[in-house]
Amino acid sequence: MLILGLETSCDETAAAVVRDGREVLSSAVATQNELHAEYSGVVPEIASRAHVERILPVIRSAVELAGVKLAEVDAVAVGHRPGLIGSLLIGVSAAKALAWSLARPLVAVDHVHAHLYAGVLGRAEQPGFPALGLVVSGGHTSLYSVRGWTGLERLGATIDDALGEAYDKAATILGIPYPGGPGLDRLAQAQGANDRAYDLPISRLGPGSLDFSFSGLKTAVLYAVRGVPDGPDGYARDHSALTAQAKADVAASFQRTVCRTVILKLERAMDRLAGEGRPVASLLTGGGVTANSRLRTELGAFARARGLQLFLPPMGYCVDNAAMIAGLAHHLAREGRFADLTLEPMPTTAC
Ligand code: KG4
Ligand code: ZN
Repeated sequence: MLILGLETSCDETAAAVVRDGREVLSSAVATQNELHAEYSGVVPEIASRAHVERILPVIRSAVELAGVKLAEVDAVAVGHRPGLIGSLLIGVSAAKALAWSLARPLVAVDHVHAHLYAGVLGRAEQPGFPALGLVVSGGHTSLYSVRGWTGLERLGATIDDALGEAYDKAATILGIPYPGGPGLDRLAQAQGANDRAYDLPISRLGPGSLDFSFSGLKTAVLYAVRGVPDGPDGYARDHSALTAQAKADVAASFQRTVCRTVILKLERAMDRLAGEGRPVASLLTGGGVTANSRLRTELGAFARARGLQLFLPPMGYCVDNAAMIAGLAHHLAREGRFADLTLEPMPTTAC
């Protein structure tokens, strides 16, 4: 089955053609980073206008790169939730128009669930179920018990910032341009960076909690860089007062702390599921922060130590893309889970 997938939930306009849920024939992504950089975050109105301009050229290039004709596509899939409503609307409208004009079925895909599929793309082996799922992206940080591709149960999620958002905000505090996650990652790997120089807080949220919180860590980074605010005049300094060594130390300490937090929550989730008599066979991971160098290493070590089959997305499929949408859509379509032309975008995830 040949599926054309569309993705416009935030600030990436993407289209991809995937065969049988596995073979990525093309994956076209137009990022908007340059449009949002001066605001240090995504501006919804700018994002949706850019999607309108880019969606048709991106679809055309995905179809051309795949070497297929639109008429050969068996179904059209779209990430219809969660995301910015004005952004989602563009992908959903385009997908509905294509499905109608081609007389092909429409498949509605949850973007967060699709992130968990990214690690399977291009790989021959299937994950063993039940699996544990971890999504760490710019908008979401969640843990799932995955019984199968269409049976997910959310075990926990962030109660404030998503991990990617925390990366981007910490990066802004350190003077790294938006989106700062990759830049902070590079700084943390600078020669001589000491990941124990700053004692930053690991948020556990009580015994057994599988939720995440990164707002306290963000404040700790703010105080480490600018000092504790002293009265109405605010902070004593900004990042320009720090030496290059001190900045690298903050970045490395931040990175160590978030990785420890993620691994701690994975351990808790594994223990809880084993205690409930549903031990997991594999670990599915996805979202922009799975591109992080240290997190990739630590997830690999964790999976080896626990005897888990690890599915870590190839670098190109960590951040938002449409290949993961078309990939997951294959399994929804096989179960006959089709949408119709009344499909509407939804701001929240299904679970
Ligand atoms: O999955 P994604 O494209 O967006 C959402 O669905 O929300 O993830 C984008 C996020 C951004 O916050 C970005 O800074 C972060 O992923 N990111 C990274 C790295 N590469 C991207 N964070 C840490 N280290 C990286 N190497
Ligand atoms: Zn995403």
